[in-house]
Amino acid sequence: MASVLTVDHVSKSFRTQAERVNSLKELVTKRRRNSDVEEFFALRDVSFEVTEGEAFGVIGHNGSGKSTLLKCMAGILQPTSGSVAVQKRMSALLELGAGFHPELTGRDNVFLNAAILGMARREIAARFDEIVDFSGLAEFIDEPVKTYSSGMYVRLAFAVAINVDPELLIIDEILAVGDVTFQQRCMQKFVEFREQGRTIVLVTHDMGSVRNFCDRAIWLEHGEIAGRGDPTDLVDTYTEKMLADAADGQAMQSTRRGSGEIRVEEVELLVDGQPTTHVRTGDTVVVRLHFASDETIENPVFAITIGRLGGAIVTFPSSRDTGEVPATISGSGTVEVRLADIALIPGPHVLHTEVTGFGRQHVFDHIQNAVSFDVLAGDVRETAGIMTMRPTWALSGPGVSGPSPLV
Ligand SMILES: Nc1ncnc2c1ncn2[C@@H]1O[C@H](COP(=O)(O)OP(=O)(O)OP(=O)(O)O)[C@@H](O)[C@H]1O
Ligand SMILES: [Mg+2]
Repeated sequence: MASVLTVDHVSKSFRTQAERVNSLKELVTKRRRNSDVEEFFALRDVSFEVTEGEAFGVIGHNGSGKSTLLKCMAGILQPTSGSVAVQKRMSALLELGAGFHPELTGRDNVFLNAAILGMARREIAARFDEIVDFSGLAEFIDEPVKTYSSGMYVRLAFAVAINVDPELLIIDEILAVGDVTFQQRCMQKFVEFREQGRTIVLVTHDMGSVRNFCDRAIWLEHGEIAGRGDPTDLVDTYTEKMLADAADGQAMQSTRRGSGEIRVEEVELLVDGQPTTHVRTGDTVVVRLHFASDETIENPVFAITIGRLGGAIVTFPSSRDTGEVPATISGSGTVEVRLADIALIPGPHVLHTEVTGFGRQHVFDHIQNAVSFDVLAGDVRETAGIMTMRPTWALSGPGVSGPSPLV
């Protein structure tokens, strides 16, 4: 496949003033010296190629250099070293409203913007209605764009960018802005683009669209390429790393209540017999509770709750539901809850534990946030909702063709 874009050993540094001051007075009185200027590398030795017709994703933390990379690709920034070669007609959708003049109307900005992107006035006039139609801003098109909301800005900018007929479209975070309907139309447009053999480079924090839409991706970390290749694998590795970082930074606060005659002392999450902090959709997970009691407890009932972190409860099974209630417990032991083929979808989750009397009114021990764990993508690719219903699809009828080349 022909290369459309080549990024060759690109580094980009910015000069920043080091702020080494101990007080406000010092900040005010201190004279800036040359030695205070530091060179900061936003990109370091980044190389990759984008080939014709592919959708190429760029992912990474805030500040990892994604926008800087796109600006270098669009020629807005000059790399400090290395080079970028673009072989096709490119249209870039970068920062909010870049290229728009606030005092001019939407209509004038369409003409101005499309002209900057290389379209002749006659061509723009021929496409004007299509552009306005796509933006959905017909009734505001003769208002100055300074009166537009940020969502309206993006709609108009996107409508122009895709209608100037680019062979290579580079987009920074467009899907984050605008309402759901507009996002869907953008996605639809991307799919059409790809069907037409055009090329897209997409920066986004939306892992679902990277996974579903991109053919390949790179992952930037502190300005360097931390990983590249298949988007599904890359998104998994990236999410795992993000969650591990988050777990290091802040452990969930557990709280406990109850009368305490019997207590859960330890909670383990096991996959294939091994303790773990993350599971995948479809795994068989064993939750093991270690308990200890000071006295003899009659007919105790154990329960666990699993929920999305900060969100909905997904399931709340108890040992009484399945009739696993011993006549008495005294001393210590373990309870294992086996959850086969879990239907949880990716995201952070929490688990609470509870030991009650048979009537479930008297609480011996309740631990809120006993453990937190992450669900990573497994054999299911759903990204929204709280669980998967394990769908299978069947399309039939004389009007239905064979599989799409896109899948
Ligand atoms: N003009 C500039 N001058 C100095 N530093 C800059 C400049 N532009 C970007 N940076 C720095 O370079 C680093 C990378 O920024 P960049 O905007 O490329 O990150 P990003 O990956 O797009 O982040 P986000 O996900 O938040 O959009 C950041 O530390 C940022 O502060
Ligand atoms: Mg950015």
